[in-house]
Amino acid sequence: MKQQRIAETFGFLRAWLKNPLRVAAVAPSGRALANLITCEISRETGPVIELGPGTGAFTRALIARGVREEDLTLIEFGSEFAAALHFHYPRARTLWMDAARLRTIDLFDGRLAGAVVSGLPVLSMPPRKVIAILTGAFRKMRPDGAFYQFTYGPRCPVPLRLLDHLGLQAERIGGTLVNLPPAAVYRIRRTHPNPFHLDRVSLRQRELAG
Ligand SMILES: C[S@@+](CC[C@H](N)C(=O)[O-])C[C@H]1O[C@@H](n2cnc3c(N)ncnc32)[C@H](O)[C@@H]1O
Repeated sequence: MKQQRIAETFGFLRAWLKNPLRVAAVAPSGRALANLITCEISRETGPVIELGPGTGAFTRALIARGVREEDLTLIEFGSEFAAALHFHYPRARTLWMDAARLRTIDLFDGRLAGAVVSGLPVLSMPPRKVIAILTGAFRKMRPDGAFYQFTYGPRCPVPLRLLDHLGLQAERIGGTLVNLPPAAVYRIRRTHPNPFHLDRVSLRQRELAG
């Protein structure tokens, strides 16, 4: 197990050297951050979508919290990570794709997810991409579903203006200094009870984009 973690850490570093913007961290998240970002999730949450799992630090924590492997969809853009995730979590559905395309795929035989856990480097993404990821994620979630995002920054990595525009609100659920670097986790939820609100927002966004 220890050897596997060491191999993962080196694999992560190699991936970062090849593509620092996409990977956006030199090492996988530590156990404290994995525990924090998954702390509100259990088997009762039902299906969970994980965005940018990398070497699976959060995936492991989700399974330890009782989420069934079959109830996991792992969406990863790095081919090196996607192949390893498929190998280590054969009963989960691993998709090698850009998380911005989330709205285009069918998941969990039509069942809606209870949570999305994101390790994506949101801060280095253009607003248009962040909007596509959030609208896609909330479209795949139940009305009470929550999107969990971590950040190394001092505030929520999704700007308030953008959250307002999408009818979402963020709350910091905690932070950990025992991570390299220290990190905080935000829970993003709908402010609007109507689950179709986000569809209208993305429709308007497409109209504006021409
Ligand atoms: C900061 S790392 C986090 C990895 C892991 N969750 C962790 O905490 O150790 C960011 C991850 O997001 C993936 N990623 C970046 N952009 C992505 C995108 N557009 N769609 C899916 N995955 C993406 C990277 O390949 C990388 O695995």
